[in-house]
Amino acid sequence: MDNQLEKINTLVYETSKEASCVVAGQIADLIRQKAAENKPCVLGLATGSTPTSVYAELVRLHKEEGLSFKNVVTFNLDEYYPMAADALQSYVRFMHELLFDSVDILPENINIPDGTVAKTAVADYCKGYEDKIKSYGGLDLQILGIGRTGHIGFNEPGSGQKSRTRMVTLDHLTITDAASDFFGEEFVPRKAITMGVGTIMEAKQIILMAWGEGKSHIIRKTVEGDISDHVPATYLQNHGNTTFYLDAAAASELTRYKTPWLVRECDWTDQHLIKRALIWLSQKEKKPILKLTTRDYAENGMSDLVTEYDSAYNINVKVFNQLRHTITGWPGGKQNDSYVNRPEPSPVYPKRVIIFSPHPDDDVISMGGTFIRLSDHGHEVHVAYQTSGNIAVFDDDVVRFADFMNDFTDMFGLDKNTAQTMFNDIQEKIKNKKAGEVDAPEVQKIKGLIRRGEAKAGCRYVSEKVVSHFLDMPFYETGTIKKKPLSTEDIQIIKDLLTEVKPHQVYAAGDLSDPHGTHRVCLDAIFRAIQELKHEEWMQECSVWLYRGAWHEWEIENIDMAVPLSPDELLRKRRAIFKHQSQKDRPLFPGSDSREFWQRAEERNRGTAKAFDALGFPEYEAIEAFKRWHF
Ligand code: F6R
Repeated sequence: MDNQLEKINTLVYETSKEASCVVAGQIADLIRQKAAENKPCVLGLATGSTPTSVYAELVRLHKEEGLSFKNVVTFNLDEYYPMAADALQSYVRFMHELLFDSVDILPENINIPDGTVAKTAVADYCKGYEDKIKSYGGLDLQILGIGRTGHIGFNEPGSGQKSRTRMVTLDHLTITDAASDFFGEEFVPRKAITMGVGTIMEAKQIILMAWGEGKSHIIRKTVEGDISDHVPATYLQNHGNTTFYLDAAAASELTRYKTPWLVRECDWTDQHLIKRALIWLSQKEKKPILKLTTRDYAENGMSDLVTEYDSAYNINVKVFNQLRHTITGWPGGKQNDSYVNRPEPSPVYPKRVIIFSPHPDDDVISMGGTFIRLSDHGHEVHVAYQTSGNIAVFDDDVVRFADFMNDFTDMFGLDKNTAQTMFNDIQEKIKNKKAGEVDAPEVQKIKGLIRRGEAKAGCRYVSEKVVSHFLDMPFYETGTIKKKPLSTEDIQIIKDLLTEVKPHQVYAAGDLSDPHGTHRVCLDAIFRAIQELKHEEWMQECSVWLYRGAWHEWEIENIDMAVPLSPDELLRKRRAIFKHQSQKDRPLFPGSDSREFWQRAEERNRGTAKAFDALGFPEYEAIEAFKRWHF
């Protein structure tokens, strides 16, 4: 049993899609079983990004397999407060759009906490909500997501195990996580109405789902940690019929995946596992790889590995060399070079390179140093900006640019009336926009242009020779956080560019395990385009390298190419990032990290260099990291 440290029944699936289908199947079975018994099926439902695929599958089961919701009664966990039912971010709207409007549930059977009740009436309202759940004999099944604070519903840290439906204050981390849905942190309501932990715990069955590595740490605490009000989800350890459904990324911090050698015998023929284990051991023992001893192995559950390879030193040298061969100052390969161990083969020079950048600044933030090197080494570098990034621009920047255009027109004697009318119109539109509302099309366009100008400036700063392409992929152009699904049109745009340039190298933002978000969709489009083109002759010589987005770095064991940067190059990278002025000081969507993008980038690159240094490699100023994608 490798899950001996787990205190909650936990099932892990390769993808969130797979897990969601299983969960939807469970719900459907319960609905049918209750219908056969002529009883209502009382479901507790959650919102947020986690359950969306479950709802999509339930809709499919209704439309294609005749699953009826006539006997279903629902109680949603929570709602922001205050919140109008028709607001873009309301959970009422969410539930109707994703589920209720597409199935045959009776409107009178839908219950969602009301974000419009008067403050003075909230306590009574909450009691009524509880009473109504009880009147149906309680919840048959409660579906949950989990917040990074460990909240279930909106029961933030500090909530008691016996808490009931009530008004609560949201945790700061929850507010930053919700910021993108509300077009900025300042627009996120500070309060919510939520079912209590006690209310949830009374459900006969509970299913909690979590996807993506962003949830992996809180999942580990919840599943393997002690019960504590610091992580309200740990109360679920006391519930007799709870199952967690995770995708591989959300499960990645569980001991059975993270350090399996601590809980079971491992198959030490797996080279990647050996590499992972050695890096872990070196970091844990705070010793360079080549100094690890048989005793270090033995004390950390890895003596069978030593037995397999005869001596600790044999394994140390093997892994050390593997890592050594990932380090190269020649990301495009080295001209006339016979050394065979470089990550990138060198037969062609100069190479045609495409750097795909999901937003207009990921190129410089995540691989600015390598971008500069490729260009300095004489390669033909193209940057393809996949989306306009227009939702991440502040309104006052739009007014500033429209004003500039107005004065510019005036100064050079161009058609003044048109410019003035447009400026007035834009100012008016921004003035009348309510918090959280979608921008007018002209405003969206100007925001896109602002970012386009910055991206061009970034490229020019690297070299006049860099070619920029603005793909404006249609899936992104909704003006809201919620995007359209990827279409063949999106993929064709990528295919056209690849076919035009016929690159020898492709770089793409590879946030592989992030189940939602623009980066993931942008990467999917590239993967699908490459799959369709992979038999082309020019593709046979093309290597694809994945860099990570703004937030994380590849784990050392997953790095296939590590490009060291000198202090000067790091400074040039910083200046290229500075060209993205609309994202400086405080971007519209900063996430939970208060550092500026250039600071995050530098700390991350310095961190990677330090990690290599600690493993026993030379001490570089900074390192950018890439993982090879085999297509
Ligand atoms: C939503 C809710 C929350 C979410 C949690 C995870 O009704 O009660 O507990 O389940 O914040 O949110 P996502 O799924 O967006 O990561």
